[in-house]
Amino acid sequence: MKHSVKPGELPLLTPRQIFERLGLYVIGQERARRAVAIAAYNHLKRCAARRYGRASLVKKSNLLLIGPTGSGKTHIARTLADVLEVPFSVADATEYTEAGYYGKDVEVMIAELLFKADYSLEDAQRGVVFIDEVDKIARRSHGARTGAGSRDIGGEGVQQALLKLLEGREVYVPLNQAQHWSKHDLVQVDTSDILFICAGTFSDLYAYRGERAVGFAAPPGGGRGRRELQRRRVTLKELLEYGMLAELMGRLPVVVELEELTEVELFRILTEPPDSLLREFQELLSLEGIELSLSEGALKEVARWAHEKRLGARALRAIFEELMSEVMFHAPERRGARIGLDASTVKRRLGAFSAEALRES
Ligand SMILES: Nc1ncnc2c1ncn2[C@@H]1O[C@H](COP(=O)(O)OP(=O)(O)OP(=O)(O)O)[C@@H](O)[C@H]1O
Ligand SMILES: [Mg+2]
Repeated sequence: MKHSVKPGELPLLTPRQIFERLGLYVIGQERARRAVAIAAYNHLKRCAARRYGRASLVKKSNLLLIGPTGSGKTHIARTLADVLEVPFSVADATEYTEAGYYGKDVEVMIAELLFKADYSLEDAQRGVVFIDEVDKIARRSHGARTGAGSRDIGGEGVQQALLKLLEGREVYVPLNQAQHWSKHDLVQVDTSDILFICAGTFSDLYAYRGERAVGFAAPPGGGRGRRELQRRRVTLKELLEYGMLAELMGRLPVVVELEELTEVELFRILTEPPDSLLREFQELLSLEGIELSLSEGALKEVARWAHEKRLGARALRAIFEELMSEVMFHAPERRGARIGLDASTVKRRLGAFSAEALRES
């Protein structure tokens, strides 16, 4: 058999294992986790094949994650890098410019990955680069239509510049990020096995469609669970109309839509992950000898508030910080205390919080 594979050549993790490990930290988003797990598995397979000195036929499956704010786009990519044990770097697409303009050149993304890999070229070349806010570099010639207003054409130039990174080329990156680009400290990096995960909210797209949440059409019969609603996926055509370049979309073959997190999922995020907010604050206070507990009702109240704010899990931290500010302030003087918060306390404190937040805006 020409294409038989030696045992060592197969990745150590199966898609199911990647999916499950992601699930320890990423609550909900099953569909996204599944797609990411498959893409990651193929990524590992390519890398392994290369280590065994064979060119891989497996095409790289760079990803595009689309979903509302705080739904876990960055979180899922970061967790993936941890699961795969590969270097991971995050870039904000809006900070980059096409070559020759003021701003960062896209090669800096690879330089940052190299830095994260402790300058191991081998590790960097199989790392994960997360590029956030790609929707903000859309070409804007049709601004009137989406109501987004017309923007400069800079975005298109950045998309062009990204093409060469994503398609897998040898690029020269500055070895020392602090230093200015100068010929003698460039290092050559092959990007063909680097996994790129792009992400954006594409909120204008949904605004234009008049939909409340990502990917959901009107309920067919009404009164059914949100999960069962008929889902209308974002199409390639819509992404192109939005102002993404066809060539760039062609290099992001896996498009994954994340869902707006439900109240129940927000509750689970507070308590379930090993690094959940509740655990974090409990640990922080235990260092002062204080035992913190929140009743189930209190946690539900927090989740309810976060859901109302429509900032996804992003709101949870702000709410928690607010709730705990008084406790944190007095903590050093209250060694050995037991502090419990119930639903009504949370409700009262958050009531004041929202009133203040409203006054500020
Ligand atoms: N599905 C999830 N499971 C567990 N925690 C989550 C999830 N989604 C978000 N979080 C938490 O909320 C924080 C914010 O989420 P994240 O940065 O991934 O949002 P995002 O989708 O990238 O939003 P934005 O578009 O605003 O960047 C994360 O650091 C993580 O702690
Ligand atoms: Mg993000």
